Amino acid sequence: MSVIYRALVTEEPSPNVFQRSIMELSTDDLPDNDVLIKVLYSSLNYKDALSARGHRGITRKYPHTPGIDVAGIVVCSKVSDFKEGDEVIVTGYDLGMNTPGGFGGYVKVPASWIVPKPEQINLHDAMMFGTAGFTAGICIYELQKHDIMPGSGKILVTGATGGVGALALCILAKLGYDVVASTSKLHYEEFLRKMGAKEVLRNTMILDITTRPLLSSQWLGAIENIGGGTLSSVIRSTQQHGCVCVVGNVSGDVLTTSIYPFLIRGVTLCGIDSASRPMDQRLFVWDKLAIDWKVELPGAFLNTIKLDSLDKEITKILEGKQTGRVVIEHDH
Ligand SMILES: NC(=O)c1ccc[n+]([C@@H]2O[C@H](COP(=O)([O-])OP(=O)(O)OC[C@H]3O[C@@H](n4cnc5c(N)ncnc54)[C@H](OP(=O)(O)O)[C@@H]3O)[C@@H](O)[C@H]2O)c1
Repeated sequence: MSVIYRALVTEEPSPNVFQRSIMELSTDDLPDNDVLIKVLYSSLNYKDALSARGHRGITRKYPHTPGIDVAGIVVCSKVSDFKEGDEVIVTGYDLGMNTPGGFGGYVKVPASWIVPKPEQINLHDAMMFGTAGFTAGICIYELQKHDIMPGSGKILVTGATGGVGALALCILAKLGYDVVASTSKLHYEEFLRKMGAKEVLRNTMILDITTRPLLSSQWLGAIENIGGGTLSSVIRSTQQHGCVCVVGNVSGDVLTTSIYPFLIRGVTLCGIDSASRPMDQRLFVWDKLAIDWKVELPGAFLNTIKLDSLDKEITKILEGKQTGRVVIEHDH
């Protein structure tokens, strides 16, 4: 079968000049993978915005349809694991990087990338979580694997108004953790407190630009979305046997530290690679997000839009001005 669908496409009309527009594409031109999915919802993540802006570290060839996550319905499948009508979720792998992604109305992916949608969550809410929520879930899975449980100490979440940050804060608070939120947008303090933060700090308050190998120990765990000097400061202020989940690089990708937080305090640095997590962890975390870790974001942190409004949201997330999650609803 062949269907024409709308997609936000980034083209490269001349070398290193990128432009975005809504185009009509055909499912005939999708890669020859196992399962064709009609995308009902996708979401906007920082990585999507980089791909949509033109970023060869993420997307090698343009024209390209970004969108690293989708929730939708199987249209046809070459494998017996999935059949027409199944409701499914895909996040990560190569989706939206070099495989056409969720900013288009259809995707075709290998069956091994697909998570059957848990019954207890609908397709919209699956993308309210999307890659950001799945990543927050993986961080909590890792903290718990390191025996960091509610009541054992403070958990710091940086970039708390962002997608990963806001969802991590809500889930941790729901589970009973003492969450400290750090943000550049202190005018959202009231929202962050309502979402469960016990303390809200301006992000500059956790940044230490000295070369001191250790700072006073404050956090038992951290979900660190910023990178650079923030990550270095967080590692140095993590307490004995604490664990820092390294998630993001919005403000830098170079880490400067000494070995003392690891030798003296036994701190664990836990790399978070949500795009390539194995399927057993995906099933575990999606099941949790659908039931025990299910949360709602306040209205100001959840924006469901149509494809035509996506371009301006991409600009906003690149400027660090986005709050919470943007869900894209496709018309079919
Ligand atoms: N490792 C993984 O598997 C994985 C998965 C998903 C995302 N990520 C990465 O994690 C990070 C967060 O992703 P996201 O989707 O949550 O992005 P997002 O929605 O854009 O949130 C990022 C937040 O970081 C803060 N921020 C933005 N620009 C900044 C800057 N230049 N300096 C300091 N703070 C800044 C802002 O929060 P405040 O104003 O509240 O501080 C912003 O809301 C990104 O780097 C993303 O690529 C990694």
